[in-house]
Amino acid sequence: MDLMEYQAKELFAKHDVPVTTGIVATTPEEARAAAEELGVVVVKAQVKVGGRGKAGGVKLAKTPDEAEEHARAILGMDIKGHTVHRVLVAPGAAIEEEYYFSFLLDRSNRQYLCIASVEGGVEIEEVAKTNPDAVKKIPIHPGTGVDEAKAREIVAEAGFPAPLTDQAVATVLALWKVFDEEDATLVEVNPLARLAGDKLEALDGKVTLDANADFRHPEHEAFVLRDEEDPLEAQAKDKNLNYVKLDGEVGIIGNGAGLVMSTLDVVAYAGEHHGGVRPANFLDIGGGANAQVMADGLHVILGDQQVKAVFVNVFGGITACDEVAKGIVGALEILGDEATKPLVVRLDGNNVDEGRRILNEANHPLVTMVDTMDGAADKVAELANA
Ligand SMILES: Nc1ncnc2c1ncn2[C@@H]1O[C@H](COP(=O)(O)OP(=O)(O)O)[C@@H](O)[C@H]1O
Ligand SMILES: [Mg+2]
Repeated sequence: MDLMEYQAKELFAKHDVPVTTGIVATTPEEARAAAEELGVVVVKAQVKVGGRGKAGGVKLAKTPDEAEEHARAILGMDIKGHTVHRVLVAPGAAIEEEYYFSFLLDRSNRQYLCIASVEGGVEIEEVAKTNPDAVKKIPIHPGTGVDEAKAREIVAEAGFPAPLTDQAVATVLALWKVFDEEDATLVEVNPLARLAGDKLEALDGKVTLDANADFRHPEHEAFVLRDEEDPLEAQAKDKNLNYVKLDGEVGIIGNGAGLVMSTLDVVAYAGEHHGGVRPANFLDIGGGANAQVMADGLHVILGDQQVKAVFVNVFGGITACDEVAKGIVGALEILGDEATKPLVVRLDGNNVDEGRRILNEANHPLVTMVDTMDGAADKVAELANA
């Protein structure tokens, strides 16, 4: 789960990272009240994408009037496809320098990585391109993590100015606690700022929490913002379905993440010959493809207005093809009139003959069976483009 800046800052404060949390506002009037309390402020769009400053989502306000005005402009704004529902009203800081700092999970090297640069503030990808030497990458052994000595090594490597050394070491250790104790896969601060009086402070924060560790952190549930979720994704989550909405026209259901991912590929490929149609979602119904799970999955996919046709791609394993076929027939009964879009079904694997027999016998007008994955992808792309 990605956190909003204000949520990331709550975790920073909990672990003694120097930060000013500010006040969250959902209306211009609340932003004014916050500014009356805080004085000179910045009004900051809260959306889960970077580059808010460039997009006009971060504005300095010297008076409560200005804060209200900025909040009115920023609330409701669209930033890279994300609608702003909240602003953070944070005390305005006297920035002298901006640095970049992050810890992240480096999957391909099976370790953690610290990325730090004294050329922060702007997008780090940009710095990496124009001035790669300014971006330091320090590997962290997962067995030992970051202790005081490692923190000193990081600070020296990054090249923080001498007067900031001790503060920087303490901040690196505190950020490591956020990363380690909260089970994050990313903790990023850009800018980590040098303020007037040589004070170091995290002015922005990005944290991604590892959902696999949710069981260790019941308190993280409070970070879930229902109004920020895609309604279809929220519905799928309620049904314990592994669903991600995409932008295309071909709904996809499969069993097993690997199969579903390759299904996305073959559909995108087939779509190139059929008007450029694309996958509409990722949906893995896992091993237990019974009628109810299949109906839940179809219900979510059919709720997507953009979907024109659905591809059910199942490889029978522990749940054999006959069970899956019964699941599809049962799901169509459960859905009744709600099922209005063509379904292309490809079954293979354990007990495939019986599965195909069941679907043939049901002879549902919306269902087309195709035996191969490529053939089925081509068919569903054709139907979606019809
Ligand atoms: N509290 C603050 N006081 C003064 N300037 C700020 C403050 N917070 C952010 N800024 C400035 O705005 C820029 C963008 O803000 P930031 O929080 O990093 O958003 P984003 O990374 O999404 O653009 C920062 O690089 C910094 O220069
Ligand atoms: Mg930033």
